[in-house]
Amino acid sequence: MHNLRSFVELLEQNAELVRIKRPVEARYELPALLEQLEKTGTAYIFENIRGSDFPLVGGLLSSAQRLGIAVGQLADADYSHRDHAKVYATAVQNPIEPAVVSGSPVKEVVLSGADIDLASLPVPTFFELDSGPFITGSVGISRDPEHGQLNMGFYRGLITGRDTVVINASSMSDLRRFYAAAETASEPMPIAIAIGVPPALLMAASGKTPPGVSELAIAGGLQGKAVELVRCETSDLLVPADAEIIIEGVVESDNRIENTLGEFAGQYGPETAPVTRVTAITHRSDAMYYSIMAGRNPEHNTIGAVSAYGMQAAVERSLRAQFPNIREINVACEPRLGTMLHMFISIDKQSDAEPAELIEAAFAADAGLFPVNVVTKRIVVVDSDVNVFDLEDVEWATWSRLSRADKIRTYPAVRSWELERCTDENQASARVGIDATMDMDKLDKLVRPIIPGAADIKLEDYLD
Ligand SMILES: Cc1cc2nc3c(=O)[nH]c(=O)nc-3n(C[C@H](O)[C@H](O)[C@H](O)COP(=O)(O)O)c2cc1C
Repeated sequence: MHNLRSFVELLEQNAELVRIKRPVEARYELPALLEQLEKTGTAYIFENIRGSDFPLVGGLLSSAQRLGIAVGQLADADYSHRDHAKVYATAVQNPIEPAVVSGSPVKEVVLSGADIDLASLPVPTFFELDSGPFITGSVGISRDPEHGQLNMGFYRGLITGRDTVVINASSMSDLRRFYAAAETASEPMPIAIAIGVPPALLMAASGKTPPGVSELAIAGGLQGKAVELVRCETSDLLVPADAEIIIEGVVESDNRIENTLGEFAGQYGPETAPVTRVTAITHRSDAMYYSIMAGRNPEHNTIGAVSAYGMQAAVERSLRAQFPNIREINVACEPRLGTMLHMFISIDKQSDAEPAELIEAAFAADAGLFPVNVVTKRIVVVDSDVNVFDLEDVEWATWSRLSRADKIRTYPAVRSWELERCTDENQASARVGIDATMDMDKLDKLVRPIIPGAADIKLEDYLD
């Protein structure tokens, strides 16, 4: 089971990590290089970022296979998000509560007062219209004001000064709710950001858990041992002991700042969030700064895909109970399809009416913590000979079997979330349902050519 360091070491041993020693500017020059590295899937350490003593590491969790390896699975190149979703579901069912420890290497350096300077970190400014440098590889820890339980989520933070950072909380996040509660109560709200945490924590921070279930316990379940927590220097929050850097602070509810960052689906995402005044920074003496390349790049989207696992499970439960003919369901969280989810369902249909009924039911389904239709742009129903986990196969079926216009259903104005940027003034946009199944009276004409027994015949057995 890996922490950040051991995972970096493993990737380096396997020649899956490059070290770049040449001096690099954190603003634009670094992201230009990160984008090229992300395309190769190679992890990276930049050892010399101008103005900072910390190396920057990233590109670690850029495929489902890497997610698996990081939590001790024997994941080969075929290991998919489907496989990892099963591992994740087992962890959700077998959470391990965190354990509090008294000391940790993350306390080797403790900075407070005038020694606090966020500019000492090698934080990239990614895109032209970004509001400034963004911390992207960080998990935030705060307390649920209702239950008092520790909450962990992925939040990006805009650095606005030596000791100020704006920690963004989307409308879907618990943190947004905590910010509102602190503002209403006019009470100071402590928060902490942990950078360079073990991979299991990154995965659990991305996933959505029901109220009362701690992401830290799921991270424990994922890594098969309790997450160790250590007390903050300036608040009663507990933070991951096995982190590289901790930033502690207090939220100033009455001081909100609008900001913009190039988002994961390849467009800008504006947010407004309160300023956090930093009260301490602690770090390992040889700390590495972990960063996730912003924009439409693999690492963010691979970790982000974990957030769709819970939805996939909830939708499967609900739809399979209503439609026993369903074969497979794929809730696709794919940057090449934009910000929204797309759902592909295969079915052994018994009538031509069934796919349309399924599309209606799927858009209306409960996705666990939010409704399917808010975040799902398109639902395509295909026959069971089509592989719903292969987007090319779904495309092929759509354009080979779409006989009539009434097999496309459109929903003109459905409430969306803020990261879909093409919405109208009411934050609503179109949804599409496509019945891409064969019409019953055309089955003979649409038979797919197959080679009997092909799956068992391997070319390598015939080559010397
Ligand atoms: C790389 C990455 C970055 C993310 N950045 C943010 C962010 O800045 N703000 C946010 O609210 N959610 C962000 N998310 C989604 C959160 O993981 C998700 O909203 C999470 O459930 C928030 O935790 P919470 O609901 O406990 O507050 C990000 C996810 C990933 C994978």
